[in-house]
Amino acid sequence: MSWRVLGIESSCDETGVAVVECSPGAPPRLLAQGLHSQIAMHQAYGGVVPELASRDHIRRVLPLTRQALAEAGLALADLDAIAYTQGPGLAGALLVGAGTAVALAASLGLPALPVHHLEGHLLSPFLSADPPEFPFVCLLVSGGHTQLMRVQGVGEYELLGETIDDAAGEAFDKSAKLLGLPYPGGPHLSRLAERGRADAFLLPRPLLHSGDLNFSFAGLKTAVLTQARKLPVGDAQAQADLAASTQAAIVEVLLRKSLAALKLTGLKRLVVAGGVGANQRLREQLNEACQRRGVRVHYPELALCTDNGAMIALAAAMRWQSQVADAQPVYSFEVHPRWPLAMV
Ligand code: KG4
Ligand code: ZN
Repeated sequence: MSWRVLGIESSCDETGVAVVECSPGAPPRLLAQGLHSQIAMHQAYGGVVPELASRDHIRRVLPLTRQALAEAGLALADLDAIAYTQGPGLAGALLVGAGTAVALAASLGLPALPVHHLEGHLLSPFLSADPPEFPFVCLLVSGGHTQLMRVQGVGEYELLGETIDDAAGEAFDKSAKLLGLPYPGGPHLSRLAERGRADAFLLPRPLLHSGDLNFSFAGLKTAVLTQARKLPVGDAQAQADLAASTQAAIVEVLLRKSLAALKLTGLKRLVVAGGVGANQRLREQLNEACQRRGVRVHYPELALCTDNGAMIALAAAMRWQSQVADAQPVYSFEVHPRWPLAMV
């Protein structure tokens, strides 16, 4: 039997809808996807405005659903389940995807499958050309989360360490803002960093030698603020140097802690997921260090690093296929704006 799952992602500032097909003995396939990013809308405010995000999800979700189905050459009747992001995320934004998915599923007599957003990120490399095998260590680096996990199988996630304050994505975004770059700053900062010297500024590597697998990025942001204030006005090279030094500090902490997690668990496989996983410098450094240690590294396709509907459809299909999730029709729902992954 094969499962065709429509997935709806609406936890933050991207409306994502996709159809994924899972068949026994075959890798999961992405049949179609539609994505609308609200970045341009929120840019004027320097960050996500929750109420605007919810309203925009309402406008986009059904046209994107129609588009994804048309692209896959499917009708609603060809679907086996509708999945949605149940959390964590912005409450109002989550309610749009959840309400749409449950209503659609109820009208079709199909199960509605709730998905943890981070589980979506974590499993997203299974849609890549080089999918991982269980077990592995996962470095999950998104805008709101920075975690290291031991992953034994679908639904078996053990938290090894996490940030005690800002996430790595937040460190990128806040530092970029201090450098006058647009929101979301991660990709802008990393582009500027290409022209800078990573050793130009000595910035802190918080908790690098803490002996555990936790992270802290709040102190780094303060150090960047101090340096940014001292930058000569209009000195583009100094600005690029500070961007490169900031990126180097974040990347080094992520690299060292990931290697420590691999050593602690004895695992020889690393999965990197979440928006910051798109960072080229991070990829280069992880690839090099892991190759030297005989560790295989897996990433989602670049387009699936940031939020999307495909990872939600995929996680639901994999949970269903491995019988971690119950797939009965439901007529009510709730969302979990705060929701630890270990509790799924
Ligand atoms: O996973 P994601 O799309 O959303 C959340 O679930 O939070 O991650 C978004 C984060 C933002 O902080 C963004 O700046 C960061 O990922 N990001 C990057 C890059 N692309 C996205 N950070 C550094 N380098 C990049 N190339
Ligand atoms: Zn995300």
